[in-house]
Amino acid sequence: MTDLHGRRALVTGAAQGLGRAIATLFIARGAQVMLADIDEAGAAQAADSLGPNARSVHCNVTSGADFTRAVDATVAAFGGMDTLVNNAGIEVVKPLFEQSEEEFERLMAINVKGVFLGMKHSLQALVASGRGAIVNMSSLAGVGGAPLFGSYCASKAAVIQLTRVAAVELRPTGIRVNAVCPGFVGTKMVERLVPTVEAAVGVPFDALVAMKQGRLGTVEEVAEMVAFLASDDASWTTGAHYVLDGGLAAGLL
Ligand SMILES: NC(=O)c1ccc[n+]([C@@H]2O[C@H](COP(=O)([O-])OP(=O)(O)OC[C@H]3O[C@@H](n4cnc5c(N)ncnc54)[C@H](O)[C@@H]3O)[C@@H](O)[C@H]2O)c1
Repeated sequence: MTDLHGRRALVTGAAQGLGRAIATLFIARGAQVMLADIDEAGAAQAADSLGPNARSVHCNVTSGADFTRAVDATVAAFGGMDTLVNNAGIEVVKPLFEQSEEEFERLMAINVKGVFLGMKHSLQALVASGRGAIVNMSSLAGVGGAPLFGSYCASKAAVIQLTRVAAVELRPTGIRVNAVCPGFVGTKMVERLVPTVEAAVGVPFDALVAMKQGRLGTVEEVAEMVAFLASDDASWTTGAHYVLDGGLAAGLL
């Protein structure tokens, strides 16, 4: 079992879904976690439910100033910060050329710029910790194209590239940077996209998922991979992206 005792983490998008599950597992494995989210009340409620090793902070990941405040709050609360999980992200689900310029820009601001800003503004604290680890939330959509997910696919591919470059540039500091690429996982994000996908594909979403990836992934399964990558067990792992998808990407049919 992955041991995270002594780890002090900032997790973005932690009010619900994958981010909340990552925070929950980290705490169960001994870490202290700052739950950051644009949904301040949701992050506070989640932190309250997780006990004294959890705190919360408002953070819109598109704002460098918000990230600076979130990192400062983490360092102040836990005496340092050694782990960053750039998890916050949004989806736009419609044909690429029906997406508006505003939708495209907002998605890129959260999914791509948010990851850049998180790494940029955490760097000093991670270096100071002497054991920095960054895990960026990409997606299976970052390694393959999917209709209706055009800008989302592009944003998640960008997350993989940011991960690679950061890993190489930061290797001398000892900071490891990895990405996680889940297929469909049971969260509100997936609940939101079901009607659009069903209408476009003409197949019930459950049947599509059963055919392509066996079943929905669980947030706990993804959190386990993130915990491993944050831990000292992954000490020679950097610049990589890890697919969790029940075999979706492996199959031609
Ligand atoms: N659910 C899936 O199937 C799946 C698969 C692959 C990757 N992902 C990725 O995992 C991450 C989490 O997804 P989820 O399914 O838990 O989504 P979700 O919609 O359930 O939760 C996303 C969280 O991010 C927060 N958030 C949104 N915009 C923000 C901003 N500007 N600043 C800070 N926080 C913000 C939301 O308030 C929410 O708490 C995303 O990056 C998503 O792209 C999800």
